Amino acid sequence: MNEQWSRRDLLRLGALTALTAPVIAHGRSSQIGPAATIICSRGEAWGRKVLEPAWQTWLSSGSMLDAVEKGANVVELDPEDTSVGYGGLPNEDGVVELDASIMAGPFHQCGSVASLQSIKTPCSVARLVMERTDHIMLVGEGAKQFALAHGFKEENLLTDKAREAWLKWKAGLSTNDDWLPAGEKPVQRPTGTINVLGVDDLGDLFGITTTSGLAYKIPGRVGDSPIIGAGLYLDNEIGAAGATGRGEEVIRTCGSFYTVSRMAQGMSPQAACEAACRRIIEINRGVVDFNVKVIALNKAGEVGCAQLQGRAGTHVSFINGKGFTALEGAIQMAKK
Ligand code: GLY
Repeated sequence: MNEQWSRRDLLRLGALTALTAPVIAHGRSSQIGPAATIICSRGEAWGRKVLEPAWQTWLSSGSMLDAVEKGANVVELDPEDTSVGYGGLPNEDGVVELDASIMAGPFHQCGSVASLQSIKTPCSVARLVMERTDHIMLVGEGAKQFALAHGFKEENLLTDKAREAWLKWKAGLSTNDDWLPAGEKPVQRPTGTINVLGVDDLGDLFGITTTSGLAYKIPGRVGDSPIIGAGLYLDNEIGAAGATGRGEEVIRTCGSFYTVSRMAQGMSPQAACEAACRRIIEINRGVVDFNVKVIALNKAGEVGCAQLQGRAGTHVSFINGKGFTALEGAIQMAKK
């Protein structure tokens, strides 16, 4: 890239690319080969829901950026998923606050939003921050006003399912307040999140991470998902990585950047994900009682996944010209 280009030049170029995208897409459609790959941080069931429409978008538009956004939007818009977008578990005041980030490899563009309220698809707002501003991150009310100005609708994101879970958590907090617990075990505080990473047939990389963050968090708490280098990172010459799970641990290890930097040293995506998990175990002196999962994809379409803990089953899935595959992630359990 010409280093004399200003960011504004790149923004103009982005606009130009958007205008010419359909032409490029038609030119490419006959060349779409098995190298194009999309990976997401979910196993069989959600993986299919996310990756099949994402792959269809890739085939029909030739835009891997549109494809990863489509995949992430599926989870953001689904009220059944309580860790991302609409239906996400709220903060301790019962308000849903969403975080998301996006990166586009060819010009190393980034966009993100944090603590965004009342908008169902935060990754699409992050994309607009990337494409339509000279900034990288918008937070809170500013992010919401920006989204509304671009035509997003203000909506209630708290579903009955999430509201009931929040009330149960609140009731179980203390025996010394006026909220009566239901007499069940203390409620776990899940961190969900989804990463969707894609490489196109030219080897260009794109990625998204989107979440409602730690359930019942202190209002204003921001996790790793909207932080470039933490919940998401890519280097168009190397590969892409995304993280889910306990965001604080991913922030303090720059988890996604760490993973990509290991790939830059020659590691496979799988080895790099395992290295990132080992790093978290190391800085916690071998004792972890939380989960982090890291996924990665390189320019050749090779994938990797590792996590600190996990139930049996598939933890990651990917799709390419050969079809859909769901895999178990390597589990790096810390010694107690
Ligand atoms: N990884 C999601 C969060 O901690 O907010």
